[in-house]
Amino acid sequence: MMKNLTPRQVVEQLDRYIISQADAKRAVAVAIRNRWRRRRLDADMAREVYPKNIIMIGPTGVGKTEIARRLADLTGAPFVKVEASKFTEVGYHGRDVESMIRDLLDRAIAVVRDEMAGTVQAKAEDAANERLVDLLAPGTETPGSEAGQPPEGGYVQPEDSVERRQRLRDRLMEQLKAGELDEREVELTITRKPATSVMFANMGLDQMDPDMAGMFEKLIPEQTKRRKTTVAEAKRILIEQETDKLLDSDKITSEAVSRTEESGIVFLDEIDKIAAPSGEGKGGGGSPDVSRQGVQRDLLPIVEGSAVNTRHGLVHTDHILFIAAGAFHTASVSDLMPELQGRFPIRVELSALGKEEFVRVLKEPGNSLTKQQQALLGVEGLEIVFEDAAIEAIADLAAQANATLENIGARRLMTIVEKVFEQINFDAPDMAAEGQDKVTITETFVREQVAPIVQDADLSKFVL
Ligand SMILES: Nc1ncnc2c1ncn2[C@@H]1O[C@H](COP(=O)(O)OP(=O)(O)OP(=O)(O)O)[C@@H](O)[C@H]1O
Ligand SMILES: [Mg+2]
Repeated sequence: MMKNLTPRQVVEQLDRYIISQADAKRAVAVAIRNRWRRRRLDADMAREVYPKNIIMIGPTGVGKTEIARRLADLTGAPFVKVEASKFTEVGYHGRDVESMIRDLLDRAIAVVRDEMAGTVQAKAEDAANERLVDLLAPGTETPGSEAGQPPEGGYVQPEDSVERRQRLRDRLMEQLKAGELDEREVELTITRKPATSVMFANMGLDQMDPDMAGMFEKLIPEQTKRRKTTVAEAKRILIEQETDKLLDSDKITSEAVSRTEESGIVFLDEIDKIAAPSGEGKGGGGSPDVSRQGVQRDLLPIVEGSAVNTRHGLVHTDHILFIAAGAFHTASVSDLMPELQGRFPIRVELSALGKEEFVRVLKEPGNSLTKQQQALLGVEGLEIVFEDAAIEAIADLAAQANATLENIGARRLMTIVEKVFEQINFDAPDMAAEGQDKVTITETFVREQVAPIVQDADLSKFVL
């Protein structure tokens, strides 16, 4: 469900997962609020207001992707993350840029379908249960139901009265709902279309004209198959089928298209990889620069606003929010085409993370690495306690490794924490078996496990 959060609320939510990076959080929070504001304008004005797209500039592993991903989660907006460097110019081999809009729509359809499925769930379950009883007691169906099988060998005799049949159904229904029949086998006819989208992707056909794709899809026959399954599995399948019958796919599509257009977010990662650094082989025919420029040129109409053809109709990109991100180590934002730069008026820098931030990254978020580790080992019956000094030491070692090796930001914490827990992760079941139920992680322990590796440059390149 779409939520309308204020900028302050958005930042508060992001703060729960991402440490520091206040500028970036504020920028995305405002962008989200602006779209809500726009939707409340009268149509004439609303048409004029374009989203203020954002470029996040910052080194690797400091939270760029994480901010965008959490933002999408907490607003319920359709979201895709694409790597700009994965695209190639139209006419070359590779994915064309319009595919990101198709992907975005696909996400929106999945979300809307899920929501609507929720509203018909009870009905679908009832219908599925009725069909299961039909399968379990052939011959008792209420007249008109389609699963008419001869009552041979079943519970039912031809001379059985209507009341008797109904009583049998009622009893089965009760047992079914109580889950008592879950293990029993039934035979089920399953009708389905092969997953064409996967097939097309494998054949490289997901790039073809959507109208053509639709035509191809109609040519592929439905497959029907009789299959024996447990009642539990059959229930799942039948609920799915009944849900499909109850849902209005046109309504889903139109709602999804409008959500995509009004609140979709495209996260364009590695935008710096398609910027051609000035002075570097400009105009050299066939050089990578030519292709980067080409991708930028293809990207421009989508970011500026155009209609993209999809299998579910046109999607207008005018009000989709684009959040681009890149490290911009070698290239700078000014190396992008001017027109493209103009479409990303908001620039925010994310700062490199140091020891202080790492301590907070380890401690504060509800899903922090230390909490994940505690949860995992908790399953083994081991309580893990971190001394503050141990967390300081992990942060310190991560910062040190980032300084001496390559700076990979908060990602370094994962390798360090992994190293700290290497032995415990292996031994945990045995420790628990021997009656140990608690391990305290001390600074000494952390340094014993990790420091030798950090100090040996060759080894650390290999291990961390
Ligand atoms: N500021 C932060 N606070 C908490 N966790 C962070 C922070 N920055 C990064 N992380 C964690 O580090 C990992 C990598 O972060 P993220 O994917 O956001 O990096 P990025 O900035 O997009 O880097 P890249 O340029 O390599 O794509 C994630 O698991 C994320 O949770
Ligand atoms: Mg990223």
